Amino acid sequence: MSLVEIRNLTKVFPLGESMFGARAQGEVRAVDDVSLDIHAGETLGLVGESGSGKSTLGRLVLRLIEPTSGSVRFEGRDLLAAGHGEMRRLRRDMQIIFQDPFGSLDPRMNVEDIISEPLVIHEAMSLAVRHARVLELLGAVGLDPSVLLRFPHEFSGGQRQRIGIARALALRPKFIVADEPVSALDVSVGAQIVNLLAQLQREFGLTYLFISHSMPVVRYLATRIAVMYRGRLVEVGDTRQITEQPQHPYTRSLVEATPEIAV
Ligand SMILES: Nc1ncnc2c1ncn2[C@@H]1O[C@H](COP(=O)(O)OP(=O)(O)O)[C@@H](O)[C@H]1O
Ligand SMILES: [Mg+2]
Repeated sequence: MSLVEIRNLTKVFPLGESMFGARAQGEVRAVDDVSLDIHAGETLGLVGESGSGKSTLGRLVLRLIEPTSGSVRFEGRDLLAAGHGEMRRLRRDMQIIFQDPFGSLDPRMNVEDIISEPLVIHEAMSLAVRHARVLELLGAVGLDPSVLLRFPHEFSGGQRQRIGIARALALRPKFIVADEPVSALDVSVGAQIVNLLAQLQREFGLTYLFISHSMPVVRYLATRIAVMYRGRLVEVGDTRQITEQPQHPYTRSLVEATPEIAV
């Protein structure tokens, strides 16, 4: 079953000011007529070089930005037709994890506040129940309760990413867009985070859109792979099919550049 149905999704950005101060002409078709289904329970890897439109697609799918045209359905509901109230309810089910957890965690908030913020906004619960939920989330991402009163700058990149993941999980979402979640981390730390994501998927029945410029990381985690090139989706298929019999020349170049062992 498709949890997310993306149809003819297009996002055009005006070019605006150029680097040289002159008013640049034209526009960027960051995402260009993309249609794609994301199946319940799968990890769909979205791979492509920097600037190919992966993050823009990820944001469009969560309606963090509005498309130029096209549609997105989540559990059959038209996301772009949803009003404020319905969107607010839908947001609980759809979360995002960013590449740079430092940039996305408020430096003035301690870990308890960071993880409980979505609960404060979306759920009426007593302090005690909320605290218990935060402890449960910490455990799920492999962090010790002693971190609760500490601040983001006190943590390593991998630990910060765990905090970001705990926060993303707070409302028990069904669907998570992970946008280059390990790209800023050392390989060994990144591998731990990838394994954590896989474990959490099993535990909570999550569906992932896992974005990465790295084919080795994507092929390790993904059940299917979608390949983007200059805003367009050039190939979609099972991980095995994509890595063993890539059809598109760009996919072939990605696969050929991939060392055998990754994570
Ligand atoms: N807010 C924006 N305004 C203008 N151009 C943008 C904006 N966001 C992304 N782009 C452009 O859209 C294209 C795709 O960017 P992005 O989705 O970030 O690619 P990726 O995540 O694959 O690196 C790039 O050319 C980028 O410069
Ligand atoms: Mg990106």
